[in-house]
Amino acid sequence: MRLRKKPWAKDEIVGYDKLVVLEPERYRGRWNEWFGNNQPIHAELGTGKGNFITTLAEKNPSVNYIAVEVREEVLIYAVRKAVQKGLTNIAFLWLNINKIEESFAEGELSRIFLNFSDPWPKNRHAKRRLTHREFLDKYKKILVHGNEIHLKTDNEGLFEFSLNEFSDTGFRLKNITFDLHQSQFEEEKSVMTEYEQKFVSRGMKIYRVEAIYQ
Ligand SMILES: C[S@@+](CC[C@H](N)C(=O)[O-])C[C@H]1O[C@@H](n2cnc3c(N)ncnc32)[C@H](O)[C@@H]1O
Repeated sequence: MRLRKKPWAKDEIVGYDKLVVLEPERYRGRWNEWFGNNQPIHAELGTGKGNFITTLAEKNPSVNYIAVEVREEVLIYAVRKAVQKGLTNIAFLWLNINKIEESFAEGELSRIFLNFSDPWPKNRHAKRRLTHREFLDKYKKILVHGNEIHLKTDNEGLFEFSLNEFSDTGFRLKNITFDLHQSQFEEEKSVMTEYEQKFVSRGMKIYRVEAIYQ
């Protein structure tokens, strides 16, 4: 049996009922009602400890953000950040991305962020990569046509795999960089995830691409 490292995290998460949506499928097709407005919705899948999405939510009050994370022991840190910042334009989903279509209707998301997704380097685990074409098919169902998936990773193998999966499934690629923090993409490098901060401090390269669902 897998032991939870932080058994208190679940109770604390459940207590933040203004930010954490425990039955997200209830809002499928109605997220604008949950937020109380018709602003576009951007989602980060595999949000971890939440620095990226809570910083964006603070910077961009005219966008609604949804953070999806399956591990409560990291999600709790993301939720706490939103509480500390007093954010009202963000929701947290304690959810496995495998089930993402159950929580969003067609065209409900205006952007998807995939940041430092687990690389699953063994070929036999390729289907678990969040840019495997089976996941991309799910994202296509919930993303607005003409809109984008933004991906960042430190992992060259996952980056190459992702570029191929995007291309093979009809996405158009733009703003590709093989070294984000030495690039001209000033805005894009200004908001970092926790993993990114760690990798950049070690001098590692960060790969980034925007994939347009056309
Ligand atoms: C390597 S961490 C990166 C976290 C964060 N994006 C960052 O850059 O700091 C990947 C995160 O994705 C989450 N994750 C992986 N697969 C997932 C899935 N199927 N559903 C939800 N979250 C998932 C993991 O629990 C983990 O927190």
